[in-house]
Amino acid sequence: MRGLVLNEEDGKVSATVREVASEELPAFPVTVRVIYSTLNFKDAMVVAGLGRIVRSYPHVPGVDLVGEVLEDRSGSYRPGELVVVTGFRMGEATWGGFSGQARVKPEWIVPLVPGLTPRQAMAIGTAGLTSMLALHSITGAGVVAGDKPLLVTGATGGVGSIAVAIAHASGFTVMASTGKASEHDYLRSLGAAEIIDRSELSKPPSSPLEATRWCSAIEAVGGSTLAKVISGTAAGGVVASVGNASGNDFCASVLPFLLRGVQIHGIDSAQASLEARHRAWNDLATLLDTKLLESMTEEIGLDEIGEAVNDMLAGRVRGRLVVRVAED
Ligand SMILES: NC(=O)c1ccc[n+]([C@@H]2O[C@H](COP(=O)([O-])OP(=O)(O)OC[C@H]3O[C@@H](n4cnc5c(N)ncnc54)[C@H](OP(=O)(O)O)[C@@H]3O)[C@@H](O)[C@H]2O)c1
Repeated sequence: MRGLVLNEEDGKVSATVREVASEELPAFPVTVRVIYSTLNFKDAMVVAGLGRIVRSYPHVPGVDLVGEVLEDRSGSYRPGELVVVTGFRMGEATWGGFSGQARVKPEWIVPLVPGLTPRQAMAIGTAGLTSMLALHSITGAGVVAGDKPLLVTGATGGVGSIAVAIAHASGFTVMASTGKASEHDYLRSLGAAEIIDRSELSKPPSSPLEATRWCSAIEAVGGSTLAKVISGTAAGGVVASVGNASGNDFCASVLPFLLRGVQIHGIDSAQASLEARHRAWNDLATLLDTKLLESMTEEIGLDEIGEAVNDMLAGRVRGRLVVRVAED
C-alpha cells in the first residue's frame, strides 16, 4: 500500500510517499482499508514538523479517515463495514489516515452515518465535527437565535466554512470574519449574512466591555482575536474556543464573565465522547446541504499534500481538503 511517511533527521522533518508494509502498522485490533482522509490544520503542522506534536518517527500523519473494515480481532466490526475515525491522537501519537491501510482501536470508531458517502464524511472530518460540537456547546447553554448574529472567525477555513453553514441552517444569523476579501461571495453562499474583516477583530479590545455585537461565537483564530471576541459578546453568550490559527496566548479581562455572564467553552474534538460524536455526526448529516458541502471541498492525492500544507499554514486554503488515499 502507498502512504505518506515522515522521517526526522537533525531536527528536520521530511515527507515521502512510499510503499508501507502492513507489518509497519500499529498493533491495534481493527484493520481498515482507508478510502479517504483529510488535511486539517493539525495535519499541516505535523507534516511541517511544527509544534512538537509527533514524538516518534517514522510516522504516518492523518487525524481523520474513512474506510472499510478488513479485519477486527476485537469482534466489534464486520469486514466490509464503512467506518470513520477522527482524533484520539491518531495521526499524532499513532499512525493515521495517510496510508492505504490503518490499524485503530475499536473504541475510536464511529460507523459511517447513513446518508453520507465516504467522501462527504471526510469533507466534514475533524473540522466539521469540531464546528458541530462548538454549536452544540452554544445551544446547550441556552443560546437561541435572536437579534444579534452568531460570529464565526477564520470563516473561510475548514472549521469556519462548516460552522457558517450549520449555524445558518440552525436558524442563526451568521456574521463571518475573514481576512480574504476575495471570498465574501463564497461566505454568503454558505449562509453568512454579514462579513467583518479579520483585521477588525485581531486588535486587542479597546475596553473590557465593548459594545455587544454577537450573541455567541465559534472562534477558530485564538490570540488577541479571542480577547476581542469575548469583549463584544452579548450577556449570557458563549464563546466556543476551537482554534489557534493566529496564536495561543491571549490577554483578557474577567469583566465580561462577571458582568455579562459570558462563558468560554473549550472544544476538544479529539477526545469527545462517542455519545457526543454520534449526536454531532447525525446532526451534521441532517443540517449540511450536500451541494454546499461539495462547494467548499477540494480533493487532492497523497502526492499533493506537501504543497497543500504550505498553503494551509499560510492561511491560503478555502474550505476543506479531502485526501484521496485508496488507489482503485
Ligand atoms: N479544538 C479542536 O478540536 C480543533 C479541531 C480542528 C481544528 N482546530 C483548530 O481550529 C483552527 C482552524 O482549523 P482549520 O482546519 O479550519 O484550519 P484552516 O482550514 O487552515 O483555517 C484557518 C483559517 O483561519 C484564518 N487564519 C489563518 N491564519 C490566520 C491568522 N494569522 N490570523 C487570523 N486568522 C487566520 C483563515 O481564515 P480567513 O482567511 O477566513 O480569516 C484560515 O483559513 C486551527 O487552529 C486548528 O488547529 C481545533
